[in-house]
Amino acid sequence: MNDILFKEMKAKEKIIKKRKSDKIEKLGKSIIQHGKLNDRVILLSLNPEDDNYEIIAEIENLAEENSYSKIICLIRTDDLPDFILSGYKVEAYVPKFFDGKTDCIMVSKFLTEQRAKTPRKQLGLFSDLLEITEVEDNYEKLQNFRMESLNESHADEIAKILQQTFASYPFPIETENILKGIQENRLFHFGIWDGDRIVGLSGAEINHKEKHAEVTDFAVLPEYRGKRFAFHLLKFTEENLKQKNIKTAYAVARLSELGMNKTLLNASYKYSGTLVNNTHIAGQIESMNIYYKHLN
Ligand SMILES: CC(C)(COP(=O)(O)OP(=O)(O)OC[C@H]1O[C@@H](n2cnc3c(N)ncnc32)[C@H](O)[C@@H]1OP(=O)(O)O)[C@@H](O)C(=O)NCCC(=O)NCCS
Repeated sequence: MNDILFKEMKAKEKIIKKRKSDKIEKLGKSIIQHGKLNDRVILLSLNPEDDNYEIIAEIENLAEENSYSKIICLIRTDDLPDFILSGYKVEAYVPKFFDGKTDCIMVSKFLTEQRAKTPRKQLGLFSDLLEITEVEDNYEKLQNFRMESLNESHADEIAKILQQTFASYPFPIETENILKGIQENRLFHFGIWDGDRIVGLSGAEINHKEKHAEVTDFAVLPEYRGKRFAFHLLKFTEENLKQKNIKTAYAVARLSELGMNKTLLNASYKYSGTLVNNTHIAGQIESMNIYYKHLN
């Protein structure tokens, strides 16, 4: 192994060892996640029993105390006026997100100029992709590779693939977190195998109460890319979600990863907005595109 390669591997190892994720906490009856990794507060679930203005004030205090540079809130349409009045702007939405009925709106406030900076070049390339994309939602069986649902016994391998693929990730991807998600019947993974090795991975994080799921954790080993594996995994994941009576699937895809965006467009997912400079993934804060598809 040459010196440069060795140094690169060591640097990656260090990042993986230092991997930390932001903490998830309760605020009133609502749920937030915040921390220095993503450098933001995210309101993951706004409980209707909480007062909107009190929650907004508390989140903004927390952001100020910690010098976070972005606040993002996932809210119901009915809560939108209170957030607009408090200076929030709509970045994306998912129709029929809650129990297949109510829409979710993603609203944000940027607290520094740097964080608010528009990713012009990436948006330009993505806009070109949207223009040229003709949906290719044809699904033929994979030749020479096996595709299967994964289980607890694969938690370690799932964690390793995600850690190798992403220098950082917005949510915990250690074996014990993946195992916990599987045991709680919340996290599901699917894999493409070449012999006894998983070479492509996808996942779904299900919210059974709201009947929605995030399709996530797409990773294909570099030497296996270019074969539409992510598309096959997405269709397989979708079939599984339909059987579980999930009504709405959504995805949060890196704006910069055109292959993933094309995969979602090919599978008839609808693009519905961009969360600007939102998520610490693959070693830096990136902008993320929101997609959705109604399954049932
Ligand atoms: C995203 C990823 C899973 C896709 O892997 P894959 O299934 O092998 O993807 P492919 O290379 O077959 O590309 C899928 C589609 O995107 C297109 N595509 C790929 N790169 C592209 C680019 N730079 N510009 C435009 N289109 C592109 C391909 O042509 C293909 O479309 P087509 O089948 O209609 O021709 C893989 O690249 C990966 O693991 N990336 C790193 C991890 C990651 O970023 N995951 C996504 C997190 S949101």
